[in-house]
Amino acid sequence: MKKMIFTFFLLFLGSLLPQTIFSPNGNLSLSFNLTAEGKLFYQLSFKGKQIIKPSALGIMLKDAPSFDKNFEIIKVDTQTFDESWNPVWGEVKTIKNYYKQLRITLAQKNISDRTFVLTFRVFDDGLGFRYEFPASKAFQYFIVSDELTEFRMAGNHKAFWIPGDFDTNEYEYTTSTLSEINATAGKYAAELSAHAPIGVSAVQTPLMMKTADSIYINIHEAALVNYPAMDLILNKETLTFNAALVDDPLGNKAYLQTPAKTPWRTIVVSDRAVDILASKLILNLNEPNAIGNTEWIKPQKYIGVWWEMHVGYGTWNYADTTNLKLKDTDWNNLKPNGKHSANTARVKRYIDFAAEHGFPGVLVEGWDIGWEDWWGKWKEEVFDFVTPYPDFDVQELKRYAASKNVKLIMHHETSASATNYERRMDEAFRFMKENGYDAVKTGYVGRIIPRGEHHDGQWMVNHYIHVAEKTAQNKIMLDAHEPVRPTGLHRTYPNWLACEAARGNEYNAWSIGNAPEHETILPFTRLMGGPMDYTPGIFEIKMSYYDKNKKERVHTTLAKQLALYLTMYSPLQMAADLPESYEKYLDAFQFIEDVAVDWDDSKYLLAEPGDYLAVARKAKGKDDWFVGAITDENARTLNIPLSFLDDNTDYIATIYADAPDADWDKNPMAYVILKKMVGSKASLKLSLAPGGGTAVSFKKATEEEMQNLK
Ligand code: NOJ
Ligand code: CA
Repeated sequence: MKKMIFTFFLLFLGSLLPQTIFSPNGNLSLSFNLTAEGKLFYQLSFKGKQIIKPSALGIMLKDAPSFDKNFEIIKVDTQTFDESWNPVWGEVKTIKNYYKQLRITLAQKNISDRTFVLTFRVFDDGLGFRYEFPASKAFQYFIVSDELTEFRMAGNHKAFWIPGDFDTNEYEYTTSTLSEINATAGKYAAELSAHAPIGVSAVQTPLMMKTADSIYINIHEAALVNYPAMDLILNKETLTFNAALVDDPLGNKAYLQTPAKTPWRTIVVSDRAVDILASKLILNLNEPNAIGNTEWIKPQKYIGVWWEMHVGYGTWNYADTTNLKLKDTDWNNLKPNGKHSANTARVKRYIDFAAEHGFPGVLVEGWDIGWEDWWGKWKEEVFDFVTPYPDFDVQELKRYAASKNVKLIMHHETSASATNYERRMDEAFRFMKENGYDAVKTGYVGRIIPRGEHHDGQWMVNHYIHVAEKTAQNKIMLDAHEPVRPTGLHRTYPNWLACEAARGNEYNAWSIGNAPEHETILPFTRLMGGPMDYTPGIFEIKMSYYDKNKKERVHTTLAKQLALYLTMYSPLQMAADLPESYEKYLDAFQFIEDVAVDWDDSKYLLAEPGDYLAVARKAKGKDDWFVGAITDENARTLNIPLSFLDDNTDYIATIYADAPDADWDKNPMAYVILKKMVGSKASLKLSLAPGGGTAVSFKKATEEEMQNLK
């Protein structure tokens, strides 16, 4: 279904300004204006309240006149667009893409033969806008040196932020007012050696804010293609965020050729926190599927030879020898350290577990030569992506996995040497296809090569997309770790199932970890751009289990780890703990076995960033519903009306809850499981322990089950 209504005005300089358009429901209004010097401004209101005060727009160029002033309007188009589309996989079956558009074509006094276009789209849940540079004989190649985009906030809002950084988003969040933002002090000061915040008042997007009168505002971007990511630098006097684009080694931001366009800048707005989580604005601003047939793409749960290395039970490397060169080393004759996890027997153990519990995928890290000195070297050639260690039998594992109807998931740690990966990629994907792999987890730990490039700069943005395209051509599903933060490109490349791009569960294994509130913030921040490979499902909460001297631990209860399968949406979900951990708690593991990863519907029930979140989801093509509810460090009781269930139908609810005395700190592994018959008129009262959560599965009850439960 597609409806479009066009209107078109030819304007005489200065007439009909400002230009204002409203969202389809009338709640949001966007106005565009020009100053006397021909500078560009926009502002945004929600239900009559200013959300973005008049804020500048424009693009600065190197070696050419900038798109900053002396503008005159040449043309104004407005359009109403209304269509529904079906994602290949997702939180819901159908997405409505309904907006009003204002497109303004501009020229500049004394600069002939080039134009500049501003496109605004106002949805019921927010605004997207972008810059376009139309084709022109006189203006073809240009370099962006800065972006003038501002977001002038209307108050000293509460913000949920991480420091601006060109290379990593693996930070803990801070909640503070805007004027209190300090990205280099406090907990960030301790991590300065590992991270490089770009400024005291610089933050990353997605940036979540809440106003004093409880309006929720989220700033991010959509469709980041051939352009650097945008960080934000706050001017605390005016409470204005200025776009800060990621540098290249020469200090330039983007190299473009007309016709060209920037990513969309997005502002999602609502007076209900749950609407922010349910927003599909960023997906709607991305281009439709560009990879053709998608039948081979399978949302899935997986296990992996992974956590056991993070907890120090095994190693990625086969030997403890260091200072090795990829080509000069006799990899078959290194002295094994006896702790190499990715050995044939151990991988078979995981394959057996996957087969027994219905997991289609088994990730194996540390299977390929190079891990002896991969870390922190800034070295061009660490891995070749095709040579296994001598104790990893590719052929035998191919046979064994196939015999158990399980697929191995490939791991390509690039050590951030993107050049090396690009040179070897064709061979690496051929090797995968030959050996039965149809999904790859990539990784970019370390400093980027080409040297001087950043994880979030234009060069790397294009690299990640190149990998998405190449994997699609080879019918390979993709999960990228340490990429630039997602911006909804999974609509265009549905084989790109997930990314990490934030501080994952792994931090709990070897650092101070993630505070109990972390998972209540991520859905409002990182997940706005797309699914996260957070790797939930850690049952053995304290790392002292592996080594009594270890203080590291997961900062949740066990039941909350189950709830994360709902609250951290991803079509690719790991059951991250060891098979041995799950075998001790098979009754709780049953939830991970049962939970779906692809959905016909999702209903965000209750949420407050930094505090709590509850969501109900209906499994794709099935009648089963699941609920996940989590809290921060505070215990809470959440009342969940079950009106999402079919009327006049009995369901068996299996509730995986924190035990009454559970507490993330003092008693994290105490859980209870109970079964109950419920219907759409009932409510569930969920008692969440401090740092806790509840997971519930709902199945339509059979006659026999109803009798048994009575
Ligand atoms: C960091 C990734 O996030 C993690 O999942 C992976 O195991 C290591 N890098 C090694 O590649
Ligand atoms: Ca990581």
